[in-house]
Amino acid sequence: MEVRNSPIGVFDSGLGGLTVVKQIKKLLPKENIVYFGDTARLPYGSKSNETVRKYSLEIARFLEKKGVKLIVVACNTSSSVALDLLSQEISVPVIGVVKPACKKAVSVTKSGNIGVIGTRATMNSGAYKDTISSMNSKIKVIQKECPLFVPLVEEGMTDGEIVEMVVRYYLESLRGEIDTLILGCTHYPIIKHVIAKYVDGDVRIIDSSVEVAREVHELLKREGILSKGETAREDAFYVSDFPQRFEEMAKLFTGENLKRVGKIYLE
Ligand code: DGL
Repeated sequence: MEVRNSPIGVFDSGLGGLTVVKQIKKLLPKENIVYFGDTARLPYGSKSNETVRKYSLEIARFLEKKGVKLIVVACNTSSSVALDLLSQEISVPVIGVVKPACKKAVSVTKSGNIGVIGTRATMNSGAYKDTISSMNSKIKVIQKECPLFVPLVEEGMTDGEIVEMVVRYYLESLRGEIDTLILGCTHYPIIKHVIAKYVDGDVRIIDSSVEVAREVHELLKREGILSKGETAREDAFYVSDFPQRFEEMAKLFTGENLKRVGKIYLE
């Protein structure tokens, strides 16, 4: 099979990475996806770098064996701590979500004050801060870990008083201090409307799933491996646990019903 007809591999600690799948499919409807969500071992955001690296490499090897032409690390935590390792170990190009989001944020900020929110592991890694500094050392980056956002979204709580309270609790210190805010976690686009309302209309919100989809397009074009949609393939979705729950929750993340989610054990 020609490389351009091979699928794109996308992985995440769970189903949050479907926000990335949604943006890739929107921009590149002719591409096929093989998705892996590590639902048995999530969350990654509260695990050590060593563990996240080990899990990420196992998944990337699984996708490599599936014959993907590119791997997109949809998980911000994995992108923050495991991208270098994966790029070394895996034979196909590997793209993470951190750099594309930083590039966009640096290009749009006017005040030079950028906020970044994400899981504890992502914030501890300093990946966003370091990447922004390497692009423009004058920019001030204010980080804030928001560990309760993921469980709220996983519970389907995407509106209402509780979410608004938690958003206020975490983002109070950023309010008025920034003109750009990076959503550095797969789950945060789902509560973007609540976040946007709280931080005010003047703050530009950067959704890393949108930015990484653009990067995927650029890379495939550059390498001459954009699919022309010549083969009638279907997207494939795998998880390490609870395929049924994944199917149910997928609607929240993609707006579509996913069928036939397979369960895979990784070693
Ligand atoms: N996918 C993770 C991320 O983007 C959030 C969920 C988790 O902690 O595993 O950082």
